[in-house]
Amino acid sequence: MLKNFKIFFATSLITVLFIGCGTMNNRGEYEGSLSNIPYLKQNHSQYLQYGSNMTPAPTKDENNLRLDWTIEASSEEGAKKLADHIDFMTNKLKSGGTPRAWDKLFLMEAYMKQHHYYTTSVERNGKVVVVSKVAKNKCAYDVISAHSNAVSGDFFGRGVTNKDYSSIAENILNSSECSSLKSSIENFISSHQISRGM
Ligand code: HEM
Repeated sequence: MLKNFKIFFATSLITVLFIGCGTMNNRGEYEGSLSNIPYLKQNHSQYLQYGSNMTPAPTKDENNLRLDWTIEASSEEGAKKLADHIDFMTNKLKSGGTPRAWDKLFLMEAYMKQHHYYTTSVERNGKVVVVSKVAKNKCAYDVISAHSNAVSGDFFGRGVTNKDYSSIAENILNSSECSSLKSSIENFISSHQISRGM
């Protein structure tokens, strides 16, 4: 009897832990311990551009279609939370996930990742996190660059994650850089977009 109860208890605990991690709320954000979004929002001002007092921002190299971030957290735990967030999101995109599917900018980024139009690498050394994103075409570069502006200005700068970047995405979609991919991206958006929850 006691043994059965222990097995039942252990199984329930494991189920709760797994289901509780990374479920999507009605805003299309992944909640739970694996995404670390609540932590990052709360501790956004604890991250600085490495070697300065400035809000983190990437170095942009448009000619080589790449972005490089070097971010210093105020603790090793903070650096781990950030690196784990990025790994989690990269893996979500790679496996067909569409976080924030009401926001066309995030949908366009998911499209680019699924089509292998850019790569992401993340490395952590103590309190320092180095992220590089390299695009294979200018349309993908414009998308990852616009996403990085949101991460730098709103996410790190103010801890604000409820803005909708769809109009920025539409400008990119209508640019000459994206003309050859436009109809394919539009199909992706219309089959994945969800309306925004509360
Ligand atoms: C609304 C909540 C959030 C969502 C849905 C989200 C989603 C994502 C996604 C999809 C990526 C791209 C992964 C890749 O391209 O491989 C990413 C990267 C990143 N996120 Fe978040 N994130 C959120 C909040 C935050 C917050 C609050 C911070 C920091 C305060 C943050 C910092 C970063 C950084 C530094 C990167 C890597 C750089 C980049 O992609 O340009 N994120 N996130």
